[in-house]
Amino acid sequence: MNIELPRGVQDILPEDIPYWHLVENTARKLFESYNYEEIRTPIFEYTELFRKGTGETTDIVMKEMYTFTDKKGRSLTLRPEGTPGVIRAFLTNKIYNQKPVCKVYYIGPMFRYERPQAGRYRQFHQLGIEVLGRKDPYIDFEVIKLAVDLLKNLKLENLEVEINSLGCIKCRPNYREALINYFRKYEDQFSPIDKERLERNPLRLLDSKDEKLIALKDQAPQPIDYLCDECKIHFEKLQKYLSLDNIKYKLSPKLVRGLDYYTKTVFEITTTTLGSQNAVVGGGRYDNLVETYGGPSIPGLGFALGIERLIILLKQQNHISLPYIPLIFITLSEDYVEAGIKLAKILRTKYRVDMGSPQENLRTQLKWADRLGSDIVIFLTEEIVKNKLKIKNFKTGEEKYTDLNLNTILEDIETML
Ligand code: HAM
Repeated sequence: MNIELPRGVQDILPEDIPYWHLVENTARKLFESYNYEEIRTPIFEYTELFRKGTGETTDIVMKEMYTFTDKKGRSLTLRPEGTPGVIRAFLTNKIYNQKPVCKVYYIGPMFRYERPQAGRYRQFHQLGIEVLGRKDPYIDFEVIKLAVDLLKNLKLENLEVEINSLGCIKCRPNYREALINYFRKYEDQFSPIDKERLERNPLRLLDSKDEKLIALKDQAPQPIDYLCDECKIHFEKLQKYLSLDNIKYKLSPKLVRGLDYYTKTVFEITTTTLGSQNAVVGGGRYDNLVETYGGPSIPGLGFALGIERLIILLKQQNHISLPYIPLIFITLSEDYVEAGIKLAKILRTKYRVDMGSPQENLRTQLKWADRLGSDIVIFLTEEIVKNKLKIKNFKTGEEKYTDLNLNTILEDIETML
């Protein structure tokens, strides 16, 4: 019997949940203030969706998908990323008929069969946004700004925004040809997979992890030198808006991203404090993806952020105080349980409240309160008859007999916290 945790996945234990809530709540608040709505799509989809969208020549599709056949022999895949499912939902539900522009966000688990290491897992969680129906560069700016602001609102530092433009279907063929001409000279040193990529999608060679290719990448032609006028203006405007808003960015002419659907803008936000898994956010524009899926010609763009990586950073930077310490009621007598139930009910509108077992002795209940991490303990004793309540902060040693009046109790707890 194997009941071990499978490799590359992890439990998210209650002690870490405050970080998850913090990230999710901060994101929801920010995204909704920019008029994004939440969408929840299925965890598995037909495999074809990712082959066509994420791309046949990507590492994700070639090596990393959790694919299985169901009882009717259909090929299904646990989603390795969120974008294809969102586009599918946009098409399945004909959202384009209801809304000229669709702005959505999502939070949920993704699955990639990668070699696990710190910051890289086989089940991980992404928080992402997608915009469908806007082709103007202002929206590229808004998408990047939202990623930057989310990290800022979480008080994260040491982050760098890198941007590049990959051109569109008009200018990409020229760039593709230049890349093939360049790499063709070294073809005999390539692995079979990279030979195939040279024929089918030479852009993929630029994000190869093969050392030979990494060395060759330096001298390779850059997409930015092949942009058509429209792509050039689009990229310049994006940079203008970023500068107007004082968002610092770095031009990274070799940044191509590991997914096939990108056109024009691509970007990543990286950190210096996560070792080799340094990308926290990745995103870009995909003006042909909806059409690739047989839909109308509707442009799109978005980003996704790895929540586990973000939480590693939050813990490193250590300046988030987490509001999850409960107040504990303790009583040694059945006579005061009723008062405890009533008071706790009211205090629960503001605090997390827990109640000890009146059958246990004082020492056991105090030990339990301590193990719950609680500082504030409220004692229900015979003082209740005199309309008094003892409150003690076990961290500071401060204790008070407060009047049995809700406002006074709340004020006293507030000052003792
Ligand atoms: P991606 O760059 O493949 O883009 O993933 C986005 C983020 O997910 C990464 O920057 C990283 O933080 C996190 N991530 C990826 N793989 C793992 C892993 N194995 N373990 C932990 N975290 C990981 C996308 O997925 C695109 N769908 C982004 C996008 C949305 N582009 C346009 N719209």
